[in-house]
Amino acid sequence: MRLGRGLFRATLLAAAATSVAPAPAIAQAMLQPPPKTMPANPTVNHNDWYKNGIIYEVYPRSFADSNNDGIGDIQGIVKHLDYIQSLGADAIWMTPMFPSPQADFGYDVSDYDNVDPQFGTVADVDQLVAQGKGRGVKVLLDFVVNHTSDQHPWFLQSKSSRTNPYRDYYVWRDPKADGSPPNNWASIFGGSAWTLDPTTKQYYYHFFYPQQPDLNWRNPKVEKAMFDAAEWWLKRGVYGYRLDAVDTMFERADLKNNTVYPGVDAFGVPNQDHVNNSKQPEVHTELQRLRQMVIDKYPGRILVGETWTSDAQELVQYYGPRNNELQLPMFLNLISLPALTAPDLRQRITGVETNSVGGWPSFALSNHDSRRAASRYPVPPGASTDDWSKITGALLLTLRGTPVLYYGEELGMVNNDPQRIEDVQDVIGKKGWPKEKGRDGERTPMQWDASANAGFNAGAKPWLPVAPDYRTRNVAAESADPHSVLSFYRTLIALRRTHPAMSGDWKAVDTDDRQVLAYQRSGGGKTVLVLLNLDAKPADVPIEKTETMDVLQPLAINRALLISGSVHLDPLGVYVAEVTPIP
Ligand code: GLC
Ligand code: CA
Repeated sequence: MRLGRGLFRATLLAAAATSVAPAPAIAQAMLQPPPKTMPANPTVNHNDWYKNGIIYEVYPRSFADSNNDGIGDIQGIVKHLDYIQSLGADAIWMTPMFPSPQADFGYDVSDYDNVDPQFGTVADVDQLVAQGKGRGVKVLLDFVVNHTSDQHPWFLQSKSSRTNPYRDYYVWRDPKADGSPPNNWASIFGGSAWTLDPTTKQYYYHFFYPQQPDLNWRNPKVEKAMFDAAEWWLKRGVYGYRLDAVDTMFERADLKNNTVYPGVDAFGVPNQDHVNNSKQPEVHTELQRLRQMVIDKYPGRILVGETWTSDAQELVQYYGPRNNELQLPMFLNLISLPALTAPDLRQRITGVETNSVGGWPSFALSNHDSRRAASRYPVPPGASTDDWSKITGALLLTLRGTPVLYYGEELGMVNNDPQRIEDVQDVIGKKGWPKEKGRDGERTPMQWDASANAGFNAGAKPWLPVAPDYRTRNVAAESADPHSVLSFYRTLIALRRTHPAMSGDWKAVDTDDRQVLAYQRSGGGKTVLVLLNLDAKPADVPIEKTETMDVLQPLAINRALLISGSVHLDPLGVYVAEVTPIP
């Protein structure tokens, strides 16, 4: 296998194997030890902080439990701000901590302007914002725009009578003549998307659980109330929002049935395409209004989108026609790939690069709704889940877009899935067992050290069991080990923050290769080459000499070696190197 001759020679130059000492195969720390303190974010224009930034997703229930009641809380996050800073995170995205009956662990909000007592108080959020600010860590909240809890006062009013002033805050429709739901729309959390209210004898609509009735965004009062809620936290110094489930904010007013396909979903409901109850054009006009009327009043504030688009062309719509919609619609399509292969990744990343012209990309590989990347794909013989963590980390942290890291991803945390239905917490898992085990496995407590409960708390039973590998896989142990996943991430994050090429362009090289994803980042007169062997077999990448006699200066390496003019990569091998011209 050769690096695409013309392309590579023409654009990147090449390396003389003799001019660099061979790197030991598993030696990332010897090349670039992780920094003791993380260098500053290189962004010059302050309001663009997110472009060179890293967003760290914190699931408060699982991060750190300061009062030892088994449930993580905001003071737990405050306590670990030094760690978050040491990682080089520029912002945390804290998933919902608002008052909630917790039917969907916070994604069922009963008061947007407050904090659930199990997580703390508004004063705790103020403290998190203030102490984060002192450390260069901004706080983003999660704005659940599609629905509220069925215990939200708006819904309690709404369902009380057909003439209540809040009736139109939600989507109510009459039953069909035979009493059945108004149409065939299914909830993605199982069953019909319509629930009959016995008092007023109409159905209300819910894309998710019945405890999560959809708001009616066609009602200007809903817009006003939700925009006020968004602004309430911005005034307190919050830096913006990750917008939950934006695709489903609107549904077709004529309630056209969805097309049904063969087969059933995990809950036994016939498959359907959700075309008429998601991705409606009004989503974009509404998000642009949120941006203009709320977010842009506060410089530097951002909107990140939970945008489950089918491809980059669809994603690009979320930037808005004049970059006036979301700053960071997350490209989540790498998560949904059944396998991470070089051709699939190349095609998707190139798609984002070519389509998001003017907008800034954002990538994620793990989150609280998906199996952890370390546990998602088969491990080739001789490799380990740590190697998956290193290669996915190398990918995420060397792409041009803003990475969104999920807590514990930097430790190589793996899924710890429930084995018995009795142990399941997530309702999806209870309803869908055993086909759908729910999302508990990726939400287990953060692993801080080797003490009881991994340092999550002072010994009370955590709401989900700590993963059995915590004695060796934890922040304390991995900080002390130069070969750990955490050290590898710190090395790459420091590289991202200091190397001029990492603020520059992205370009695929050797674009026919089926094993190795190869690309270069170029900026400030410098170039970094990234080689990722995503294959279960070893690969050799010949590095051709050119007249300029450039050398490769290794920056981060795992399971790879430069020998006699080739980079040899074991399965899941990573080779990140600067291309340095010889004067
Ligand atoms: C989003 C959240 C998920 C939640 C759903 C309903 O997809 O990430 O956790 O269950 O919205 O609010
Ligand atoms: Ca607690």
